[in-house]
Amino acid sequence: MTTDGNDPVEANRKAWDQAAPYHRANRHADLLSRFAEPGYSCLDDIATERLRALGVQGKALAQLCCNNGREVLSARNLGAARGVGFDQAAAFIVQAQELAAAASVDCEFVATDVNRIAADYDGAFDIVMVTIGVFGWMPDLNRFLGTAARLLKPGGCFFAYEQHPIVEIYEPGEPEEALYSYFRREPFVETESLDYYGNAQYEAETHYWFHHTLADILTGCIGHGLAIEHFQEYPNNISSANMDVFENRTAQLPLSYSLVARKAG
Ligand SMILES: C[S@@+](CC[C@H](N)C(=O)[O-])C[C@H]1O[C@@H](n2cnc3c(N)ncnc32)[C@H](O)[C@@H]1O
Repeated sequence: MTTDGNDPVEANRKAWDQAAPYHRANRHADLLSRFAEPGYSCLDDIATERLRALGVQGKALAQLCCNNGREVLSARNLGAARGVGFDQAAAFIVQAQELAAAASVDCEFVATDVNRIAADYDGAFDIVMVTIGVFGWMPDLNRFLGTAARLLKPGGCFFAYEQHPIVEIYEPGEPEEALYSYFRREPFVETESLDYYGNAQYEAETHYWFHHTLADILTGCIGHGLAIEHFQEYPNNISSANMDVFENRTAQLPLSYSLVARKAG
């Protein structure tokens, strides 16, 4: 792993804390007013349908890398009885708490590296969720999936709704030419803006993105005793707007996927 001696998790934390004021400037007021409407959900049809199929109503749900909490709050509005969001960027946890207050929804937000989530949460959740843009921040995917597994109750489900890793062989917005190996192990070292809401351009703190193949993800789940019971690929872009050009092509790539893996009961 080439991170020039830097701790990639700490570097990524700094980069996300730096991004928080840009997200606040570009999107926060809008989200505050949307969450003030009772029952608001930002989740799209695919995520909503999958959570309903998992019987989210009345369940305890954790979201790993929850950012500003909009998705775990939406899951609470879909009927989850308990919601806990974990993210190591403390500045985003503040925004999540503000959104929870606007929604009048009881939801717990914890500022922590996901790999350091306290043992108090072990076995506490029926559903552990990750959504778009999480696996790539993890230098140690196996450890991350182990964390998801330990947080689940017996019989609970890990639910991932993520960008498809095949698109990482391309530069964002450049679908004509594949530039990177699908089997790449070196991290992408980036200083590009992380403002995927407002697309503000600024020089970001150096951050590290780790490509993981689908096999890494699926076998990682299996290795932690999470049995795959749903997996589906979609032509939909759920990532940033500059990936929209990858949609509606004759030679269509899968752009996203949903995965459900269940812990033994
Ligand atoms: C792309 S955002 C997730 C976006 C979210 N799905 C949404 O749509 O709002 C990725 C998040 O992962 C968090 N993150 C990255 N590495 C982390 C780690 N080791 N522990 C906890 N959070 C982490 C970042 O702080 C950031 O908020």
